[in-house]
Amino acid sequence: MLVLENSEVSMFVSEGLGVNEQGHLTIAGKDAVSIASEYGTPVYVMDEALIRKNCRQFRESFEKYYNGAGMALYASKAFCCKEMCRIAAEENIGLDVVSIGELYTALSVGFPAEKIYFHGNNKSHEELEYALKNHIGCIVVDNIEELENLDALAEKLDETPGIMFRIKPGIDAHTHDFIRTGQIDSKFGLALETGEALEVLKRAVSMKHVVLKGVHCHIGSQIFEIDPFRLAAEVMLNLIAELKEETGFEVEQLNLGGGFGIKYVPENRPVPYEEYVKEVSVVIKETVKRLGLRQPFILIEPGRSIVGPAGTTLYTIGAVKEIPGVRTYVSVDGGMTDNPRYALYQAKYDMAIANKARQPKDTIVTVAGKCCESGDLLGENVSLQPAEAGDILAVFATGAYNYSMASRYNRTTIPPVVMVKDGESRLVVKRETLEDLTRNDL
Ligand code: LLP
Repeated sequence: MLVLENSEVSMFVSEGLGVNEQGHLTIAGKDAVSIASEYGTPVYVMDEALIRKNCRQFRESFEKYYNGAGMALYASKAFCCKEMCRIAAEENIGLDVVSIGELYTALSVGFPAEKIYFHGNNKSHEELEYALKNHIGCIVVDNIEELENLDALAEKLDETPGIMFRIKPGIDAHTHDFIRTGQIDSKFGLALETGEALEVLKRAVSMKHVVLKGVHCHIGSQIFEIDPFRLAAEVMLNLIAELKEETGFEVEQLNLGGGFGIKYVPENRPVPYEEYVKEVSVVIKETVKRLGLRQPFILIEPGRSIVGPAGTTLYTIGAVKEIPGVRTYVSVDGGMTDNPRYALYQAKYDMAIANKARQPKDTIVTVAGKCCESGDLLGENVSLQPAEAGDILAVFATGAYNYSMASRYNRTTIPPVVMVKDGESRLVVKRETLEDLTRNDL
């Protein structure tokens, strides 16, 4: 294997990528072209060491900047499968789940239930009952109806679940409208400005069958600034202080959600993850002093920042269609079914042809999928090496919200997930088969 110069490493958006002596892309030391031929395409490839490193960075920054009185909960919506839950458990971080499906996956590999936080703006009775019976750490309650239902259910099952509330702190985190969730016009959580949040918190304090542990907010996703998090911490501590003043009850936990931005394209400038924890710790320490509160246990919920940069999707290029004076379509054997993010958010990705990784990217093309849908694109105005049928296309930073948002439109089978570590690959999710597609058809 060729030893890489730093300048060569930085030609990619994510760590762990390189080029070998055949001029092929490598992922965690393994030739991407050989991964494609071994497992077929499309295939999601994940760099295990990078996932673990990202988990550790969050964990260690709490030790460094907040006396260890904090925990990262991996937001499993970003990428959930048994192996990812095992990795999160081994890395000693907690888990944010948002459905019975994610919860079931985690419990099926023995993920410690007490480290699971259950989100959702419309949890079903079945989901709440499942969570209570499995004694999960905390239910993040979204609304008053859920609180009343949960209290009644807890009494019936003779359980006393820990709860926290999702609050809308009214902070604009300068991100894409579809993924901005902190303002008042959001389906998630309780509004602060209207007094709704305080009223519901007071109601929870008075209840016998739930234990109020804390408050939560999530101000958006793919955020490149620390200021909105600082502000969110302050706003939430003020709420904790108000509740204390009115009821004498002081919650122990402050959950500031996820949303830490990653590098999709070279111009993205992510904040080093530990900076968030460092800066927010400073604000929390100052604010609690001013408000006469105890230092809360802090939680954060990174999803994208743990798995996003660790993923690369490999495709085989088929038709290359040049429309003179218009554009060139390079079609691949996947598309919006394995990565709907361009279709949904016009999300930009960096790409390269894995078998031509050392060649200059001197063509500008539109990368299209194979679905019967004009919007089925993976990118427009993408710079790429000259593409030909049979080439392997690598799309970088696809570890978050790709596999987890995959669909079966056009009865497409969901691609497999391959984990690579120290140059060795292993299958962690099998490719769906045609039989899988008709399994539930009657
Ligand atoms: N915690 C809560 C309560 C959330 O709602 C989310 C994301 C996270 C944590 C994790 O956020 P992250 O660290 O991954 O940014 N499908 C969209 C992203 C939706 C995010 C929804 N909530 C996308 O592909 O960009």
